[in-house]
This record gives sequence, C-alpha cells and structure tokens, in this order.
Amino acid sequence: VGNEVKVGLLGAGTVGGALLELLKDRESEINQAAGCQIVVKKILVKDPQKKRLIGADSITFDSAEVVSDPEIDIVVELMGGLEPSKELVIKALSNKKPVITANKALIATYAEELFTMADNNGVDLYYEASVGGAIPLIRILRESLAGERINKIIGIVNGTTNYILSEMSSKDLSFEEALNIARQLGYAEADPSNDLDGLDAAAKAAIMASIAFNTNVSLKDVYVETMRNITAADISFADQHGFSIKLLAIVEKLDEPEELSIRVYPSMISKNHPLASVNGAFNAIFIHGSASGDLMLYGLGAGGNPTASAVIGDLIDATHNLISGHKKRSLKRSPLRIKDISELCSRYYLAMDVDDKPGVLADVASLFGKCGVSILSMEQIGIGPAARLVFITHLANEEAMKKTLKGLSQLKSVIKLGNLIRITDAEN
Ligand code: NAP
Ligand code: HSE
Repeated sequence: VGNEVKVGLLGAGTVGGALLELLKDRESEINQAAGCQIVVKKILVKDPQKKRLIGADSITFDSAEVVSDPEIDIVVELMGGLEPSKELVIKALSNKKPVITANKALIATYAEELFTMADNNGVDLYYEASVGGAIPLIRILRESLAGERINKIIGIVNGTTNYILSEMSSKDLSFEEALNIARQLGYAEADPSNDLDGLDAAAKAAIMASIAFNTNVSLKDVYVETMRNITAADISFADQHGFSIKLLAIVEKLDEPEELSIRVYPSMISKNHPLASVNGAFNAIFIHGSASGDLMLYGLGAGGNPTASAVIGDLIDATHNLISGHKKRSLKRSPLRIKDISELCSRYYLAMDVDDKPGVLADVASLFGKCGVSILSMEQIGIGPAARLVFITHLANEEAMKKTLKGLSQLKSVIKLGNLIRITDAEN
C-alpha cells in the first residue's frame, strides 16, 4: 500500500461522477483523513461515445483492469443493477480487495453470498450509501447500536415517493401532476417503477432488518405495496384528520416467539409523529431501541453529492483498515421466521363510492361487523352520485379486513372501493 491507496471505480454516472469531483475538490482533506493519498487508478464505464469531464485518462472498458489488477487496493462499485455488478464484486472480493458499494438491490438480493465471500477472503464489504444516501445509518446500526435491542425501525427511505406525496399534500395535486414535477426536477427517473412500486424501499428495508436483527433478509422476504393509487382525496382526508400519508418501510422484531415483520406500503401516520414532518425528497429513519428509546436520523437520501459523501466515508474507513490490517467484526447472522402480512393487525382507513340511499350505510356497517372488524368512525363526504363513505377501523386483523373488502366488493350499493390504507400508530 505504501503512501498511496489505489482505487478502481466501477461506474462513473451520477454517484461515481460526484465521487470523482469530490475526491478532486477535497483532495487534501480526504487524504489527511485517510492517512495516505487516495488515487483513482481505473474507471470502468460502458458507453465509449460519452464525453467524460473528469477522470478521462483513467477510463477503461475492460473490467479486469479494475477487479483483477494486483495494483488496485480497493474497488468501488457504482454501476447499479445486479449483473455484471455481482460478478465484478465477487471477483474483486475473491482477489482480496475490499469493496464499497451503493447498490441496495445487489446487497438486498445477494447479501449472504457476498458477505460470506468477503469473510472467506479476509476483506470487508462496505455499503453505507445503499440506504438513506448521505444519512449515516449502516455504521450506526452496526457499531453504535451493536449492543442495543432494536424493536422497530420505521423509515422514509425513498426520496422520489416522499417528494410526490409531499407535493400532493402541500399543493393539492394529483399523483400524476406531482410525478410530472418530480420528473422535471430530476427526482424521478425515466422509469420510476422501482421507486413508486416500493421495490427501492423494500431493498433498503431488507438491508436495515438484516443488520438491526443480525439475520439474512432478502428482497423477496419483504411485503410490498405500490403508492401509485394514493389519491388527492385520500391525502385530503388524512390531512383533515391529523395524519400524513407516507411510503413507510417498517421492520420490527416480535419477541415471543422471535419473529420479524418487514413491510413497505403507503401508510397514514399521525402528524404528531416526527416522521410526518419529513417532506420533499428527504429521508428519515426512526429507530426504537429498548434501552436507547427513540432515535431519528434525517437527511438527503439520494443525489450524486449526498450519496458520494457516504461513499467517501467508507473509502476512508476502508483505507484505514487496509493500512492497519484490520478487518471489521463479522456479523453473526441467524435465521428468523418472517411473519406473513396476513398475521398482522392494524387500524385501517377505507373509502368507497356508494349509492346515496337509505339502508346503504347499515348494509356496509353490518358487513364490517360480520367479518369481525370494529368501526371507530365513519364519515359521508358528498351527496347523491358523488357520495363517499370513509371508515376508520379499530385494530383489526388483515385476514378479517380482506374478508370485509371481498364482501364489500359484492354489495350492489358499493359502486367503487377506494384504497385500504393502514394507519401506523406508535404501538403497531
Ligand atoms: P448511473 O448514473 O446510471 O451510472 C452508472 C454508471 O455505471 C455509468 O457510468 C455507466 O457507464 C456504468 N455502467 C453501467 N452498466 C455498466 C456495464 N455493464 N459495464 C460498465 N459500466 C457500466 O447510476 P447512479 O445513479 O450513479 O447509481 C449508481 C449506484 O448508486 C446504483 O446502485 C444506485 O442504486 C446507487 N444509488 C444511487 C443514488 C442516486 O441518487 N443516483 C442514490 C443512492 C444509491 P456510462 O457512463 O458509460 O453510461
Ligand atoms: N431512487 C431513490 C430515491 C434513490 O428516490 O430515494 C436511490 O436510492
């Protein structure tokens, strides 16, 4: 290693480009913090036609020049996607190079294989930037809270959807209108499906659960619902009744028996909860530990500079460890049963368009009762053909609620069922 640590970069797009800029602009501070000179020796990219403003001399199209060059000390993966990222990360680890990645899909899908590969080769895999961008979360869960008994984490971990929901709420916009603004401002990608359908948040939930509960949770273990169907009417009702609607990633450990629940869905949350005031493209992660009590981390979860800032923290850490020959403590991960969503209970909001006729409310309410769902409140909004009934339930079981929905869909007087939205209370 000597006085220089040589880095191989896989990908120089939004995050990789910002990383190169920051390494150049802050060269002396970063080198001082790292205790040696950090030099980016090779940069793998894909498109030979693209003009490179920075690092042009180090560009390569041959991945072996990054992951197999014995001179490269540390590999930083900022390509995204599963392949060839996975193959290249495995190759770098098997060549005993520490790897840093911001790729939540990769970690959430292949954590077990990748961490085993890193351990077997005596090197570390760093992934601070994979959840919450600039927010230092992984290190806090892994190190500061290592001895804490974490019961629950509730995160707003997707900036695009939080921006859309915040705009819908503050400017009375429809989902489509808010999505268009998010696109114009560059928050939403050309194909925003992973964000809108909760998959990006689900990958982050899997990562958070794995570290917080020392287990291996993968993307496929997460229950996910899209937020595309949330309407301006849902948001307006929530607002008038003291709630915000947020796409929440919830991971929790239930003690007797030891089980996990990991879920991502749009949820109403009381305006008194600190997460309710996290607006725009910001992310926040609310952690409850049995000794620590409540903690909340807040910041920018996306964008070139915020994400590159987290990568630089990992790069400095990896450099120190490389120089000192130190390897991070391996997490002892043991399997935990994951509770199916059908086994959970929640309070629910349910809206429906109905015929505005005598007896309709009685029919609807009696169906809730027959299915074992107790109603906390009911409101009629609008009259005649525009009549909507909006129910809030007491705590009810998912199965009972599903049965209620099925029954309601068969009632003649129910013209259209709206969204079923869970209410996230402090205690459920
Ligand atoms: P991006 O802008 O699309 O950049 C990807 C880079 O990887 C480009 O330089 C591209 O080459 C290169 N690349 C892609 N496929 C390749 C291949 N098969 N062979 C060689 N090079 C390849 O992506 P990004 O937004 O920077 O995201 C990078 C990672 O950071 C992803 O895992 C993402 O999830 C994560 N992340 C991003 C953000 C964010 O705000 N953008 C936030 C948190 C985490 P060309 O330059 O030739 O196209
Ligand atoms: N697309 C993500 C978001 C950023 O909107 O938060 C990358 O994790």
